[in-house]
Amino acid sequence: MMTKKHKLWGGRFEAGLEDWVEEFGASISFDQKMAKYDIQGSLAHVTMLGETGIITAEEAAAIKAGLEKLLEQYEAGQLVFTVDNEDIHMNIETLLTAEIGPVAGKLHTARSRNDQVATDMHLYLKAKLKEVLEKLDHLCSVLVNLADKHTYTIMPGYTHLQHAQPVSFGHHLLAYYNMFARDRERFAFNLEHTDISPLGAAALAGTTFPIDRERTSDLLGFAKPYSNSLDAVSDRDFILEFLANASILMMHMSRICEEVINWCSKEFSFISLSDTFSTGSSIMPQKKNPDMAELIRGKSGRVYGNLLGLLTVMKSLPLAYNKDLQEDKEGMFDTAETVTVALDILAGMLDTMTVHEQVMSQATEQDFSNATELADYLADKGLPFREAHAVVGKLVLECTKAGCYLQDVPLERYQEISDLIEEDIYDTLRSHTAVERRQSLGGTGFDQVKQQIQQARKK
Ligand code: ARG
Repeated sequence: MMTKKHKLWGGRFEAGLEDWVEEFGASISFDQKMAKYDIQGSLAHVTMLGETGIITAEEAAAIKAGLEKLLEQYEAGQLVFTVDNEDIHMNIETLLTAEIGPVAGKLHTARSRNDQVATDMHLYLKAKLKEVLEKLDHLCSVLVNLADKHTYTIMPGYTHLQHAQPVSFGHHLLAYYNMFARDRERFAFNLEHTDISPLGAAALAGTTFPIDRERTSDLLGFAKPYSNSLDAVSDRDFILEFLANASILMMHMSRICEEVINWCSKEFSFISLSDTFSTGSSIMPQKKNPDMAELIRGKSGRVYGNLLGLLTVMKSLPLAYNKDLQEDKEGMFDTAETVTVALDILAGMLDTMTVHEQVMSQATEQDFSNATELADYLADKGLPFREAHAVVGKLVLECTKAGCYLQDVPLERYQEISDLIEEDIYDTLRSHTAVERRQSLGGTGFDQVKQQIQQARKK
């Protein structure tokens, strides 16, 4: 025999849910993360109900006092939630009823769980977005400070992971700064879309009660209320934007982590990570592994997955609320928790790494990354660039066979190749000169890098 458990929505039911079915429908195991926001939303709602006379001032005061007590108990870790009560909204209401009696039943006047859950998520994400923005600012400042310190540190610039042209390490770092600065702009825009109050949309169509949506929006610190009640309860774009922005952010973090992983390998030896951001091996005593960088790279997978998950949940939903929407939360929580900690880890890891400047710049001295300099030198003296390119290409081949580099070629050989080449070629071929001379806007020239740093600091 199935027993009929008491449900807040149980009036029209004769039979109760079986436990395992109830478990399937419940969200309390994860939506309790929004408990604080649920209570805050209720506090704003009941304040407005009292002010508009929809309930009496005494009723409002009693409910408020009860909610405040619950908030205290929540913060002290004393609230116990149950699967019977399905989700955070009904758990809080049940706890409130236990606290203050039947007057608690007036709280849900002119409200539905549909606008309530949307309100909770807007509040949760607003707080998380502010955290993400702060952490991104910190990461950006770590990158700009490092770039400042390493404006004159020269490293091989790569294409196809092959030495291409020497660049300033500061310039390389500022490329990442730019990516994260764009991420910041995306999250700031995301915050605008999140800063809107769905409260008062009720189930879908608004309410016959004379509610004041502007007031609850203000009380909760939102910029404004949603202008369409159907949109208010079924919009999850603000979460999708967050998941998309977070995916791009994770991709950026994953790219720099991939570089960090390369750079601290024996083959590169460009950097050493601090012990605090490295781990050892249980079998190989010598190992110092860049686990944290690998984990950030790896965790990009779950963040992309959360985006794809919610896009798929949303794609065919008719208006307005559908229970499918309960699937919007875990991915949002997981992504918010993943990106906030990943941002801290990355900033800390970069801030504490040791840069082996000599190794970096030496890597540009035993290679052909100055071949463009020679071609440019000839082109500058009037040889068409295509011809210059061919001449240098042949010389690179010759050097490769002879086991030397362009800077090792004697002047006599250079002058056989072209009478345009003079003694100053050796200075031209130095990687320091190559970097210094790249003064085109946004180039790696030291002065350009300094300008980028100045602009970044202004921001
Ligand atoms: N737990 C639900 C969710 O997360 C709350 C809204 C329930 N609304 C409803 N009409 N069943 O979406």
